[in-house]
Amino acid sequence: MKLFVDTADTKAIAELAEMGLIDGVTTNPSLIMKSGRDIFEVVREICDLMEGMPVSAEVVATNAGEMEAEGLKLKEIASNVVVKVPLTWDGLKACRRLSGQGIEVNVTLCFSANQALLAAKSGATYISPFIGRLDDINLDGMELIEDIVEIYENYEFDTQVLAASIRTANHVRDAAKIGAHVATVPPDLIKKLTLHPLTDKGLASFLADWKKSGGEIL
Ligand code: E4P
Repeated sequence: MKLFVDTADTKAIAELAEMGLIDGVTTNPSLIMKSGRDIFEVVREICDLMEGMPVSAEVVATNAGEMEAEGLKLKEIASNVVVKVPLTWDGLKACRRLSGQGIEVNVTLCFSANQALLAAKSGATYISPFIGRLDDINLDGMELIEDIVEIYENYEFDTQVLAASIRTANHVRDAAKIGAHVATVPPDLIKKLTLHPLTDKGLASFLADWKKSGGEIL
């Protein structure tokens, strides 16, 4: 499974990219707002950091024509920009028009399998089902990932399932087990994936024994 980071925080992206842990970045209007920066400036910096890997930047228009125009403008920032459009009727029209021009499109705010089916037929490169937001209203976000993976496999759609709105380490593990192509995860959560109490306990005991041995490596 590819791992994208879901943020517009360039410091966090730089650290993760240097470690080779991420295969792409997703942003949205709320994350851009949180960065406090201009969308063109911050997306350009992220695209440079990611060296050709996909960086999703989202349109904010609501009609197809304007979404297409915004998408084309965002695409001018760098060749690795993926245009993100919402899963609305107009969003699907914009997806078709942009993908028809060879532009990669991430269709976002997906909450049902039927929405995902339409996005694939519209030429989406990625579909972003939001797991956490479904769990928030007592529905099963992971069941949606399962349904979409099955439907796309049944009909051999090329659209990649990009598990989004990930809130827990279990979300990451379950998305990988189900066969989501990508999970986009906030930077803090990626860091937390390293944690295990037995790792901490084991390390503390190794270091204590090493101290007793009086040995040195450097
Ligand atoms: C995906 O591309 C979205 O940016 C994101 O995953 C939304 O997550 P949230 O529901 O935690 O805001």
